[in-house]
Amino acid sequence: MCQYSAVDGCATDWHLVHWGQLLMSGAGLVTIEATAVTVDGRITPGCLGLYDDACEAALTRQLDRARRQCPPIAVALQLAHAGRKGSSHVPWEGGQLIAKDAGGWTPVAPSALPHAPQEPPPAALDAQRLAAIRDAFVASARRAGRAGIDALELHMAHGYLLHEFLSPIANARTDAYGGSFERRIAFPLEVFDAVRAEWPAKRPLGVRLSCTDWVGGGWTLDESIEFARRLVARGCDWIDASSGGVSPAQKIPLGPGYQVHLAREIRRASGARTMAVGLITTAAQAQAIVAAGDADLIAMARGFLWDPRWVWHAAAALGAAVAPPPQYLRSAPRDAAGVFGGANAGQR
Ligand SMILES: Cc1cc2nc3c(=O)[nH]c(=O)nc-3n(C[C@H](O)[C@H](O)[C@H](O)COP(=O)(O)O)c2cc1C
Repeated sequence: MCQYSAVDGCATDWHLVHWGQLLMSGAGLVTIEATAVTVDGRITPGCLGLYDDACEAALTRQLDRARRQCPPIAVALQLAHAGRKGSSHVPWEGGQLIAKDAGGWTPVAPSALPHAPQEPPPAALDAQRLAAIRDAFVASARRAGRAGIDALELHMAHGYLLHEFLSPIANARTDAYGGSFERRIAFPLEVFDAVRAEWPAKRPLGVRLSCTDWVGGGWTLDESIEFARRLVARGCDWIDASSGGVSPAQKIPLGPGYQVHLAREIRRASGARTMAVGLITTAAQAQAIVAAGDADLIAMARGFLWDPRWVWHAAAALGAAVAPPPQYLRSAPRDAAGVFGGANAGQR
């Protein structure tokens, strides 16, 4: 989850504290927030980046420090480019576009179409700049590998650059990257292939998709299924099934597990492993989704900030076990005595 707490793209002590907290959680995988592959690919000036040596050094240092104090947990990182949503204020300052003369920059996009009608249009990318962005994804993947990241996820959701290519709402190009389904998926596939070629085959590479735009005339679940098939054939290890974000006209039927059907349909129709996300909050709910074969993985966002020990509590509820740091071994309440798998701490 974006923390908007980086300085010039560099991880700070906030990330040390935040990552440390998540790495204590007992989760199967902790995913680091959307991390920009270029400086203008940041959503806000506070977004994390992995586009230069300083960013790489800061991420490596803070992650190493956090990992040294915590039980071993696999760490993924989400590589992203904000597209036309770049140059925005951090959410607690309103989240609106920052004008260029107020310290912002001109966001880039497939077409010169603004996200909201009252906003100035972004700059449409030409073929040369597209090739540079593809290469930036590859360079950031290389940096992530050096920083000890175990898995990567490419952000193709939520109205950011790669989703903007997929969706006819943001993509009005008339060249090889716009128009038909085949043309709209061409640039995202090019990025996927380039990153897959760079990223070691034994390390997983997933994709987060907005599986529907929730707007008439937008990207659809059927298109997501066909796109997932192409990604799986190219070595994609999971589809993280999210939705929306490309248009303020979206109508999302919010409710518990409101995106699970997207993970289910994609899993059944394309054979992709899927990750379900969105208002999954209880252990029983998460367990039922996996048991029903709707998804292979469960991702949680807000629920983890609310309760960073969610996994411990879920393990206690489901009769499973987690490995806490030894300093916390004596914390288990009586009714969850087995949650640390019988590991004991002596006392004197
Ligand atoms: C503060 C905040 C930051 C987020 N940052 C990201 C992000 O970096 N990448 C991403 O794909 N989704 C991001 N999301 C969306 C969440 O990952 C998740 O898909 C969404 O909140 C629904 O899941 P939940 O109900 O478990 O929170 C963010 C959401 C919030 C509230």
